[in-house]
Amino acid sequence: MKIESQVSEALNAQINNELRASYVYLAMAAHFDSDNLKGFASFFRRHAGEEIDHAMRIYDFIVKRGGTVELKGIAVPEKNFRDPAAAIRTALAMEADVTDQIHKLFELAHEVKEYGTQNMLHWFLEEQIDEEDLFRDLLEQAEAAGDSRWHLMVLDNRLLGAAPPA
Ligand code: FEO
Repeated sequence: MKIESQVSEALNAQINNELRASYVYLAMAAHFDSDNLKGFASFFRRHAGEEIDHAMRIYDFIVKRGGTVELKGIAVPEKNFRDPAAAIRTALAMEADVTDQIHKLFELAHEVKEYGTQNMLHWFLEEQIDEEDLFRDLLEQAEAAGDSRWHLMVLDNRLLGAAPPA
């Protein structure tokens, strides 16, 4: 059955939200690369890639359901952050917004009886729980490091160690 038009439109908007998140994380990666915090940079770069994967999941779903993908513009992301905690706070707030967006999508899919879309969105519901948990944990660590460059570098090294080889 072809995808319901209102749902298709809302999913297209979500592609844009995911790509916007990718752009924001890439700007954070660039900021930390320029501040020589390679671990934070690699963490955000990896996350930027994950957001593109999220967008492509929805892209593929729309195509498979006979809908049309329509890309929209992406606003210029913020590029300066006082410290890693400030960037992570921004990330956590953005992830909370994404969770809200997924919930609204799910409600719409439920309302118009788009069962296939509800099923596809289950993956995103789970993912958002993990995403918020990840950023909450990291924020706690970055806040504990505070303004100490030494402690931030220790945390940075740990993030670098956790990164897969480039
Ligand atoms: Fe695709 Fe981080 O939400």
